[in-house]
Amino acid sequence: MNFELSEEHLAVREAAREFAENELLPGVIDRDTHQKFPTEQVKKMGSLGFLGMMTDPKYDGGGMDTISYVLAMEEISKIDASASVIMSVNNSLVCYGLEKYGTEEQKERYLKPLARGKIIGAFCLSEPEAGSDATSQRTTAIDQGDHYLLNGTKNWITNGSSASVFLVMAQTDAEKKHRGINALIVEKDMDGFEVGKKEDKLGIRGSDTHSLMFSDVKVPKSNRVGEDGSGFQFAMETLNGGRIGIAAQALGIASGAYERSRSYAKERKAFGVEIAKHQSIQFKLADMATQIEAARLLCLQAAWQKDHKLKFAKTSAMAKLYASEIAMQITVEAVQIHGGYGYVKDYHVERLMRDAKITQIYEGTSEIQKIVISRELIKL
Ligand code: CAA
Repeated sequence: MNFELSEEHLAVREAAREFAENELLPGVIDRDTHQKFPTEQVKKMGSLGFLGMMTDPKYDGGGMDTISYVLAMEEISKIDASASVIMSVNNSLVCYGLEKYGTEEQKERYLKPLARGKIIGAFCLSEPEAGSDATSQRTTAIDQGDHYLLNGTKNWITNGSSASVFLVMAQTDAEKKHRGINALIVEKDMDGFEVGKKEDKLGIRGSDTHSLMFSDVKVPKSNRVGEDGSGFQFAMETLNGGRIGIAAQALGIASGAYERSRSYAKERKAFGVEIAKHQSIQFKLADMATQIEAARLLCLQAAWQKDHKLKFAKTSAMAKLYASEIAMQITVEAVQIHGGYGYVKDYHVERLMRDAKITQIYEGTSEIQKIVISRELIKL
């Protein structure tokens, strides 16, 4: 077993760290406060190759492994989890989904600009009444011969107003239940497609989360991803990989909060000494560092399994479950270590605490991760 990162991995991590500190840190509080999408920063992420990291270079991607992606996600999430969710959805849901299941024509037309970061994409599974219970899709895609007629509403869509390409799951044959669902590529300017309300969120406020409405949108048959009826399986398998990205995001939020707490504890004095000299603070830092190390190992293990074409659904769910739970605990502790300063924006940790919460909810709540894990364990 080799725990050493390669030269390439270290270089990717360093590049992501530099980008986050130089390009994302300035203005991060303002973007969070005023819900400003990081337009310029996302463009730079595209030109640096962070939006299509794992896509094959023949489709204009970076051709990197999932370990590199985890390392970059951690560094970017330490500073700005709004930027990292945009990156995660584009990389591991949209680019990965199209590369693995799309036709050559779809890859040429959609994957290439997505992997270059020229455009960004969105993944549309959740509905007003189908969040965790994803098999209960109400959006319909009625087969009309050469096209599908798409009708319905999707909710909580990351990149909802900034994306140009949307992977939309919709029910074609209700009798077949989840085996009657299709994944369709919808373009922003298709007639009948409308971007709805922008959500005013607790955290990741720089990212745009919207509802989307489809009224008689004609989607050409050539825009179906995969075989007829394979849309639910497509969504599940794509989410297995997506969960590695969100696990790494949670890991980054946790390590960002920990690093800030450690620095603060070495500077801030109370009762005549730096607070890091108080055992109550030392124990908190020791717990944080231990949890972060364990979460990082789970993320890297899931990434390694995916890179080696081994089964990784259980490990990615474990990584997402554990990393998101500890991100929440660690960010709460980080606010506590900072005392009153932790409760105001300038010290960043209150934002990280708000950002941490969503990692326990999106791409499957913690309860969904437990379902995925236990099914693999029990296999009745
Ligand atoms: N990997 C591969 N296949 C899977 C799978 C997985 N993790 N989970 C289920 N499946 C397959 C099953 O094998 C089954 O296939 P067959 O019919 O061929 O046997 C099929 O899917 C249906 O599975 P179930 O009978 O188990 O379905 P269910 O209704 O009991 O539960 C669930 C499935 C795991 C709970 C699923 O609904 C689920 O994962 N829900 C959560 C959805 C989710 O994560 N949403 C996030 C939205 S995307 C997002 O957040 C992106 C963003 O913007 C940030």
